[in-house]
Amino acid sequence: MMPNPITLYHSYAKTVVFQEDKSTYHVKAHHPDLTICGVGRSATAFKLKGEPLVLKVFYPPYENIAEQEQHNYRKVKDSSYYPTLYESGSNYLVIDHIDGHTFFQCLEEGIPILPDYVQQVDHALSYAKKKGLNPSDIHLHNLLVTKDDRVHIIDIARFSQTKTCYQWNDLKAGYYKHYHKAYFPSKVPTWMMNLVASIYRRVQ
Ligand SMILES: Nc1ncnc2c1ncn2[C@@H]1O[C@H](COP(=O)(O)OP(=O)(O)O)[C@@H](O)[C@H]1O
Ligand SMILES: [Mg+2]
Repeated sequence: MMPNPITLYHSYAKTVVFQEDKSTYHVKAHHPDLTICGVGRSATAFKLKGEPLVLKVFYPPYENIAEQEQHNYRKVKDSSYYPTLYESGSNYLVIDHIDGHTFFQCLEEGIPILPDYVQQVDHALSYAKKKGLNPSDIHLHNLLVTKDDRVHIIDIARFSQTKTCYQWNDLKAGYYKHYHKAYFPSKVPTWMMNLVASIYRRVQ
């Protein structure tokens, strides 16, 4: 069998070097055309210079997730709620760069989260369900909104898990219960959101 040709994106992915420190991964080196645009638990996302694209490179223990995620992106390829997948490799994906803010950043920076955004997420998740997926791991870092109020969902590897995930329903309930109340801060401190998230994870 012929080996796969090395593509440009593959060679960019090969320049990314991670360093592990107590099970946490840090980027030690990368090609100068790549700029870090987000750090997750399983991967780091890089914006490609001069192209509206993101190269998501998985940390060594999570490389198997790349295949799962590319498989799920192919299932939702006809929906504008999800970035288009252009290429995937054993440890990386190339997808549209969403020029916007995560819902987490919206809360941090005081950017309003409109009820319409919540409805857009619902529509996006219904679409994924229709395509046979089981939306999971829907949290504030994986929901993005652009300046023209269009919501996008990223990081959909776990959409193919079988276990029911209540995270989005819980987030939505919290939004309707608290977000528009006078006591809700216009900017939520990062430490507070991280604390709530870690308590939520612990009681799951
Ligand atoms: N396509 C994208 N456009 C813009 N930002 C992105 C994109 N993909 C990832 N990011 C940023 O990078 C972060 C980590 O990416 P993510 O795919 O969620 O990794 P993980 O699977 O480790 O959680 C996201 O929370 C987001 O801030
Ligand atoms: Mg994520």
